[in-house]
Amino acid sequence: MCVLAGMGWAQQQSDPPGEKVGGDTTVWANGRNAFSFPFANLSDEEHARFAVGNSFFRRNWVEAPASTTARDGLGPHFIARSCGGCHVQDGRGAPPTGRIGQRAGQHEPPVALLMRLSVPGMGEHGGVVPDPVYGDQFNNAAIPGVKPEGRVLMRWTARSGRFADGTRYTLASPHYALANLGYGPLSKDLMISPRIAPQIAGVGLIDAIPEAEILRNAEEQARQGGPIRGQVNRVWDAPSQSMRIGRFGWKANVATVAQQTAGAFLGDIGITSHLHPQQTCTAAQSDCLAARHGGQPEREGGPAVEVDEKTLGDVVFYQATLAPAARRAATDPQVVRGQRLFAQAQCSTCHRPSYTTGRNPFPALASPRAEQQTIWPYTDLLLHDMGDALADGRPDFLASGRHWKTPPLWGIGLIHDVNGHRRLLHDGRANGVLEAVLWHGGEADAARRQVLRMSRAEREALVRFVESL
Ligand code: HEC
Ligand code: HEC
Repeated sequence: MCVLAGMGWAQQQSDPPGEKVGGDTTVWANGRNAFSFPFANLSDEEHARFAVGNSFFRRNWVEAPASTTARDGLGPHFIARSCGGCHVQDGRGAPPTGRIGQRAGQHEPPVALLMRLSVPGMGEHGGVVPDPVYGDQFNNAAIPGVKPEGRVLMRWTARSGRFADGTRYTLASPHYALANLGYGPLSKDLMISPRIAPQIAGVGLIDAIPEAEILRNAEEQARQGGPIRGQVNRVWDAPSQSMRIGRFGWKANVATVAQQTAGAFLGDIGITSHLHPQQTCTAAQSDCLAARHGGQPEREGGPAVEVDEKTLGDVVFYQATLAPAARRAATDPQVVRGQRLFAQAQCSTCHRPSYTTGRNPFPALASPRAEQQTIWPYTDLLLHDMGDALADGRPDFLASGRHWKTPPLWGIGLIHDVNGHRRLLHDGRANGVLEAVLWHGGEADAARRQVLRMSRAEREALVRFVESL
């Protein structure tokens, strides 16, 4: 257990089993609503703001013009009609699951699976260069009179292996194709990155982890001199107009909940804001450019925006105060055994258990309730080379085509309660914790090989521990 003694978390164990994963913000919850409760320490006034933000997160946007002007402006291109359309119950999306060897997605378009697009080169602020015709995200839906960009088709192939004890396993490997293209051919050198919508409870606490702690994780890993060498991503943050360390998204391609929210309104729903006043239509998409927009100027002479600054702030506040749920069965002997194995297999080098949060740099958009809490998210927020099998080949700011951010593991055992599935990893390819680990490669290859050598009882204990988080 002292693998991480040098990283400071061992000294922070005022709450030994890490049951109160979000400190004073923690709620005790399971079942379908487990990800949807506000911080336990909110005031009445904050509860009211949470409820307003919740309604704008959940309810569908409609085409303009509409009688409900506060919610019009959907599209012209979009993927879903609300945030909750992908983050169902504030939880996690799933890819279309087909049988191995068969196509999926023809009848039911993947919704919570988003395709990020770019072409080689470096764009504004060191970010991606969008496809000149299709932009930086593939929109499979559009309002009437505008063509959708196309459809995403999927196919699964098998990938098999064997544990040291002889037990065989089969993983399903996803393949994607973009079809029914609305605006002609894709760029020849197009890069595509599939990403599933993650659960969002706890993002306000992740936002409050001091940048110095993330940098310290990278220094500590470099000092150990082994294959594990996480790197920070540095990304453009429109709300603060500055380059900041990325911590959200599967490649840490976003720095703040505020940026993620404004970006999702624009990119996923087609809703403009003061941070992103222009629709994403490209020059080649004349129907999109000509389509009717919703919204009014917020100030004289300003651009017409479809979500006003106050509402945007309320949606940010809502997410930033969604509480992580307390651990379950933290003292169960099998869980405790799994916790030991988690440290032994060096899972905890990347999935760093705990932090003390600092002061949030955006007091207006976040809740002071997230500050100075001991939290247990199980992430270093760093990018790691995870090997060929997981690589998307699409860089994103400083992240390479083989890099992924260590995702927080808190709440992972509740995804099934909330969303009725156990899909994990950036594109939801893994069905459950053990499959997720079997996909680990690159810097995490030694950890995967340790799991291959474990007995069945040890594997079960490891999974049970991760599911208790
Ligand atoms: C089309 C599906 C979709 C819609 C609609 C959507 N999201 Fe997301 N969301 C995603 C995906 C996919 C990611 C991961 C993005 C990445 O890795 O680049 C994500 C990531 C996030 C994250 C970061 C979570 C983390 O821990 O990294 C937040 C916060 C978030 N979304 C909030 C929102 C809000 C607010 C809205 C509505 C304005 C919204 N999302 C709409 C799919 C969606
Ligand atoms: C080198 C760093 C590293 C190590 C070591 C590591 N992981 Fe991970 N883990 C990651 C990254 C990065 C991802 C995301 C990969 C992706 O989405 O393609 C991930 C994803 C996961 C997921 C899926 C999370 C989700 O939200 O979908 C689980 C579960 C997981 N790891 C458990 C473990 C366990 C258990 C171990 C030890 C046996 C371990 N990891 C070791 C970096 C690491």
